[in-house]
Amino acid sequence: MTERLESREKVTGAARYAYEYPVEGAVYAAAVQAAVGKGEIRWVDDARARAMPGVLDVLSCENAPRLQDTSNAELAVFQSRTVAFRGQFVAAVIAETLETAVEAARHVRVEYAEEEPDVRLHVDHPGFYRPEKVNGGFPTDTEQGDPDGAFATSAVRLDATYSTPTEHNNAMEPHTTLAHWDKDGGLVLYDSNQGASVVRSVIAPIFGLAEDRVRVVAAHVGGGFGSKGTPRPNVVLAAMAANVVGRPVKFAVTRQQMFATTGYRTPTVQRMRLGAGADGRLNAIGHEVFVQTSTVREFTEQAATPTRTMYRAEHRRTSHRVVPLDVPTPSWMRAPGECPGMYALESAMDELAVAAGVDPVELRLRNDTDTDPESGLPFSSRNLAACLREGAERFGWDHRDPATGVRRVGRKLLGTGVAATGYPATQSPGKAIARADPDGTYTVRIAAADIGTGARTALGMIAAETLKADLDAVRIEIGDSAHPAASVAGGSSGTASWGTAVVLACESLRGRLNGEVPPEGIEASADSGDALKAREEYARHAFGAQFAEVEVDVDTGEVRVPRMLGVFAAGRIINPTTARSQFIGGMTMGIGMALMEESVMDDDFGDYLNRDLAQYHVPSCADVRTIEADWIEEIDPHLNPMGSKGIGEIGIVGAAAAIANAVHHATGVRVRDLPITPARLL
Ligand code: MOS
Repeated sequence: MTERLESREKVTGAARYAYEYPVEGAVYAAAVQAAVGKGEIRWVDDARARAMPGVLDVLSCENAPRLQDTSNAELAVFQSRTVAFRGQFVAAVIAETLETAVEAARHVRVEYAEEEPDVRLHVDHPGFYRPEKVNGGFPTDTEQGDPDGAFATSAVRLDATYSTPTEHNNAMEPHTTLAHWDKDGGLVLYDSNQGASVVRSVIAPIFGLAEDRVRVVAAHVGGGFGSKGTPRPNVVLAAMAANVVGRPVKFAVTRQQMFATTGYRTPTVQRMRLGAGADGRLNAIGHEVFVQTSTVREFTEQAATPTRTMYRAEHRRTSHRVVPLDVPTPSWMRAPGECPGMYALESAMDELAVAAGVDPVELRLRNDTDTDPESGLPFSSRNLAACLREGAERFGWDHRDPATGVRRVGRKLLGTGVAATGYPATQSPGKAIARADPDGTYTVRIAAADIGTGARTALGMIAAETLKADLDAVRIEIGDSAHPAASVAGGSSGTASWGTAVVLACESLRGRLNGEVPPEGIEASADSGDALKAREEYARHAFGAQFAEVEVDVDTGEVRVPRMLGVFAAGRIINPTTARSQFIGGMTMGIGMALMEESVMDDDFGDYLNRDLAQYHVPSCADVRTIEADWIEEIDPHLNPMGSKGIGEIGIVGAAAAIANAVHHATGVRVRDLPITPARLL
């Protein structure tokens, strides 16, 4: 049991978030958003706003300073008259107080030459194309054997199309930047993000600065879920505003503005084809993914990639197609790719189990594989079967009656569902410094990010273990680009990546410690790049099994989830306390995905109708009953010095499918379009 190192600071309010740094003379920015879904800005009239007392400046395409690098069009704030989507930032007011800035922003008039936006994703859209690669650099399409022929001759066939809606990451702390230019022309950004080094390297060229002229501080971050993995336009806006007025500028994106400007999960349409023998063994798997991007930048979510890894089948085809619409650019949201992809695959597997008359746990066991089906590589470790068996036993799966719609208690129909989960165990190179002082304490520095995950604590434990020191004697300094450069807190790769650099730095330091530590201390630094390159080739993934029990009200169609169990195999678990929170948090987000979360697009206005937490529903405490998360001991020597896989995202993967499968078991109704709202069920 190791509590978060920063828990006291967090509960007492001493932990500082980006907006809270006491920078002297700070002023405030408020943004104006495009009021049309597509078009050109004809003119901006900021006279009334400028006339208001306390207003320092108004920025728009009429007067904004030119940025040095506009190659990332999403970050080219106020550089063009083109409106690519409704809600795009088109102007900003900088004022002495937040209230003045917000009020003045209401008086900035923008006149548009308006065109009709095209915002609806549907599979017949003529704009679909085949991108060169999908996100993560994965191939767009893959094919093995003769999937059409094998499917046509399979004894049991499933051909079904699933959809997931637009979903928005709703971190508690909004995207926030406090930008400050120092006297020497260097830029300091107190910014809420998932990686200070990443923000620095993206922002520096935009303002024509060398990287060492930009410092990014993000000591504490109130959630991100991927939306803060790369800097959003708010960072550029704040830095530009601070430069223009010559004062530090605070800018926090409001909850409503967040829905257009800080990323979201693309909606998906996914056609699954599964062909199996009478015993449920797969011959053919087909997974066709259709997603959207914006006209600003290509972003193709790699939703078919898990289907390349999960199950054995001789014949397989996966594909991705993307269509650019007049919408904000999609971005990362917890387990991008795997999360929607596994919803489709694991729903289809449940349908196949029903069609073949095979128990759904047994069906997955029969289709397990010990080599990665497409690459042919061995898995560094793969304990999907162990998770399914352990989970089935603990959940009480064994006596499950497969009949649907037959367990009724009062107004409630009861059902249970299962889904597999998996997530790649990736790592990125990074650097760290470890230092020993004569008082017996150690300091470890790395530009890692703790976005609420417990990463700081895990790194402290890793350092203490390597140094053979007490955790109390180790100080961990993260969240600052002045520390050795580190990769983003994303792709569930943070602790594995940073931990490797920390172990190497601490080992190197130990090698130098012989005898007394001099007054100035001893330091050792490390770069994990070579160690990573030297690793043997393996397919590295975490796996798990998700179980859910649901109650469905037969009169209202309301679905409740009284019980969930997740059993994971993710290598060595560094800190059970925070790891459990990560799994449970992911599974909770899975409840949201299954039952609630949906950003509703208005086709005429080209905007989301629900833009706050009153209308975009995420699970509240009352929606979350018993969620248990546990793991099997997994020893995998092919990963990193800790033997750990990532755990940030696997908790959400498969969770929505387990719930949807349980709803089918309860009611006999198969809802293939998330979320499963009462209207879709009745
Ligand atoms: Mo996660 S969506 O890779 O931050």
